[in-house]
Amino acid sequence: MNWERKVHRIMKEIIHELISEEQVEERIREMAEQLSRDYAGKTLHMICILKGSVIFFSQLAKAVKIPVTMDFMATASYGEETVSSGLEVRKDLDEDLDGRHVLIVEDIIDTGNTLSMVRKMLNARNPKSLKICTLLDKPERRETEVEVEYVGFEIPDKFVVGYGLDYAQRYRNLPYVGEIEFAED
Ligand code: IMP
Ligand code: MG
Repeated sequence: MNWERKVHRIMKEIIHELISEEQVEERIREMAEQLSRDYAGKTLHMICILKGSVIFFSQLAKAVKIPVTMDFMATASYGEETVSSGLEVRKDLDEDLDGRHVLIVEDIIDTGNTLSMVRKMLNARNPKSLKICTLLDKPERRETEVEVEYVGFEIPDKFVVGYGLDYAQRYRNLPYVGEIEFAED
C-alpha cells in the first residue's frame, strides 16, 4: 500500500453575467434584420462552426427573413503552442459552395487564427460571396488579421462561457454570456 498523500486543489467556478439573455437576443434580432436587408432576394447559405456557434446559429437562422440553407463544419486548431498552427477539419461540409452566398457563423473570434484559415479554405471552393458573422469579438487578442463583416459584441480580453461557448465542454447551455472566475474552494 502506498500511503503517499495526494493533494488536489478544488477550484470553484463562478460565472459573472456579462451580456444578459435579453441583450444577446435583441442583438441577434438586429443582426438578422441586417442580413435580411443585405441578402434580400438571395438565398443565404449559413455555415455553423461546431460546436460553439450552435446556439447563436440557431437563434440567428430563426430570425432571418430570407430563404436559408444550412451546413455544418467542425474544426480544431493543432499546434496551439507552436508558432505555425494548422487547421484540422474534423467534419467537413456536406455540400459544395459553388455559386452560393456563404455566411460563416462563429461564436467568438479570439486570435483570428482559426477563422482566417477557414475563410481561405472556403473561399477556394468558389462561392459567389463569402462573409463572416460572429457573436463575439475579442479584438485585443488578434494575432492574424481576418475580415469580419458582422460582429454582435466586442468584448474585452476575458474568458467567457455560455450561449454556446464552453469551458472544458461545460456551460454551453447557459442562456447568457458570462465571464468565468476560478476561485479556491
Ligand atoms: P481563434 O480566433 O483562432 O483564437 O479561436 C477562436 C476559438 O477559440 C473560438 O471558436 C472558441 O472555440 C475558442 N475561444 C476563444 N476565446 C474563448 C472564450 O473566451 N471562451 C470560450 N472559447 C473561446
Ligand atoms: Mg469555436
